[in-house]
Amino acid sequence: MTHSDNPAKIEVRNLQKSFGAKHVLRGVDLTIKTGESLAVIGGSGTGKSVLIKNIIGLMEPDSGAIQIDGEDVIGMNPEDRERVTRKFGMLFQGAALFDSLSVWENVAFGLIQSQGMNRHAAREDALAAMVQVGLDTDIAERSPAELSGGMQKRAGLARAIATKPEILFFDEPTTGLDPIMGSVIDDLIVKSVRELGATALSITHDMASARRIADNIAMIYEGRIVWHGPVADIDHSGNEMLDQFIHGRSDGPIQLRVAG
Ligand SMILES: Nc1ncnc2c1ncn2[C@@H]1O[C@H](COP(=O)(O)OP(=O)(O)OP(=O)(O)O)[C@@H](O)[C@H]1O
Ligand SMILES: [Mg+2]
Repeated sequence: MTHSDNPAKIEVRNLQKSFGAKHVLRGVDLTIKTGESLAVIGGSGTGKSVLIKNIIGLMEPDSGAIQIDGEDVIGMNPEDRERVTRKFGMLFQGAALFDSLSVWENVAFGLIQSQGMNRHAAREDALAAMVQVGLDTDIAERSPAELSGGMQKRAGLARAIATKPEILFFDEPTTGLDPIMGSVIDDLIVKSVRELGATALSITHDMASARRIADNIAMIYEGRIVWHGPVADIDHSGNEMLDQFIHGRSDGPIQLRVAG
């Protein structure tokens, strides 16, 4: 599906972020159209999580611009920022569930915290979200620590979709899962994004997952987007960096810095 005529939902311009001497984002430019599902791929430590954290407001960039629905979010006042943040649903790398809360309380977190829903109504919505991602509601009162990795990802996904967000962020949704569970989660992501009519930004180094969940792919390397195009084009992009990455070759323009 092409979304090229749709307005931009997320617009990132010349985004820069350093940690001390480490220049992680060196001018990232990225446009995600409304209804598009984009996967950003790239090696470990290239700044994928940092990029997503800047977009959702967990980190402030050093310079550059981020617009959500045409609104500049950098330096926005806290009330407006909060209003924009309510458009977001996020599945964190490693699911990041609170072990002190039950499964349903985790899923209901955004409903109670940012939408101010009462616990009874929030529990109903949380159970519905659990059903949507194939979680048995019998586990609602359990602690996330008792769940398998795949069930934790499902619970994280249920939490992300429970508020019916316009924009979904997925940070490494399949990492640490077996290939079959990985593809089950990918199918759930595709289904959830479609049912919500959401715009999706996923971050992954799992190419099989990127192909399943995304319309378009952007590759990040050395702090910049070095290739951006439709999934259908990635096998004949003519881009040596993308080619090396998708084939997992140790030889090529991308050099891993093992030492130092
Ligand atoms: N809060 C922080 N303070 C200092 N350095 C950080 C911080 N967050 C990230 N970094 C550094 O920024 C770089 C990019 O980190 P990031 O987590 O974005 O990588 P990634 O592409 O998500 O990797 P992975 O695929 O392993 O998840 C790393 O070198 C990391 O050490
Ligand atoms: Mg990461």
